[in-house]
Amino acid sequence: MNFQQIFGNPPEIEASAPGRVNLLGEHTDYNDGFVLPTAIPQRTTVQIGLSRDLQHHFYSENLDEKVSISGDHPPSGFASYIFGCIDLLVKSGYKISPINIWVNSTVPIGLGLSSSAALEVATLRGVRSLFNLPLNDVELAQIGQQAEIQYAGLNCGIMDQMASSLADIDSMLFLDTRTLERRVLPFPKGAEILVIDSGVHHALAKDSGYNQRRAECEEAARLLQVKALRDITDPQAVEFLPEPLKRRARHVITENNRVLEAAQGVSVERFGELMNASHASQRDDYEVSVVAVDTLVAILQKTPGVFGARLTGGGFGGACVALIASGEEAIATDVLKQFNHAGYVGHILVPTKS
Ligand code: GLA
Repeated sequence: MNFQQIFGNPPEIEASAPGRVNLLGEHTDYNDGFVLPTAIPQRTTVQIGLSRDLQHHFYSENLDEKVSISGDHPPSGFASYIFGCIDLLVKSGYKISPINIWVNSTVPIGLGLSSSAALEVATLRGVRSLFNLPLNDVELAQIGQQAEIQYAGLNCGIMDQMASSLADIDSMLFLDTRTLERRVLPFPKGAEILVIDSGVHHALAKDSGYNQRRAECEEAARLLQVKALRDITDPQAVEFLPEPLKRRARHVITENNRVLEAAQGVSVERFGELMNASHASQRDDYEVSVVAVDTLVAILQKTPGVFGARLTGGGFGGACVALIASGEEAIATDVLKQFNHAGYVGHILVPTKS
């Protein structure tokens, strides 16, 4: 149902924000490290109008669910991200009158493509324009990240919100998550991106291994006497750490080195090797992959025309990203056929069907 059908009057503004796929630099952002995401064509759209009563009302068209906010009681589910963004703006001193928000998204949920960041950034863009808030795109990303941490319980880094707020689909966003310095880089020459869903969805928040990995990294940094694992560049330095901290820290250090090398502008073949090495490191050292994803990545890696492939996003399921030769989209159907033949149910997410 559309805005008018739900709320009885037309919306005042519309805003949207994309999901993202990360090419290299996984689980480095909450270690003050480096990441290399790009936006994907799938987006989350919000329409907003002023509420006629004293409550905020949020409607998700995908879920066909309406949530009304009473008092300061934080909601759960999709509404928690929207409420978190609004509540943080109010706590920063902005006056936000009660609003109606309608949401629709084509970003798949639970596949590591930042559906929640797209919702946060779309909401914040919409609210910024409705109330003329003096916030820049980096500040929007920072508020979105805090909404995720404080209201959805995922102790995440800043990559997803920065990518959703600042990246585009035609280039890679090289980001230093400590300083927030960034550079827009071209994709490796002669290549394009393929994203395939493994069919295994994750839920990162709360009790997932995600928050546990972050805590392990912080403990490793403490034992190494550095502010964050970003401050170590030599993987040998972690040898004295107990397991599993040694492997966790080794992943972060080698992954940061891979991003830095890729950002210098390497050949497409080298870029692919770095992606393959990143997958092995996520699987063996960071232990965030699952069998379905490993199977899909293995099929991709042995397919001619694929330069490299890896798990993307927070892990524990989700999607794989591959770098393939330009114009070779038939690779996607071929890989999917093999993957589904092995008993899985995958889908091609990028390129999107035109
Ligand atoms: C999730 C988090 C990000 C990042 C990735 C892993 O998407 O929201 O901050 O840590 O996982 O790279």
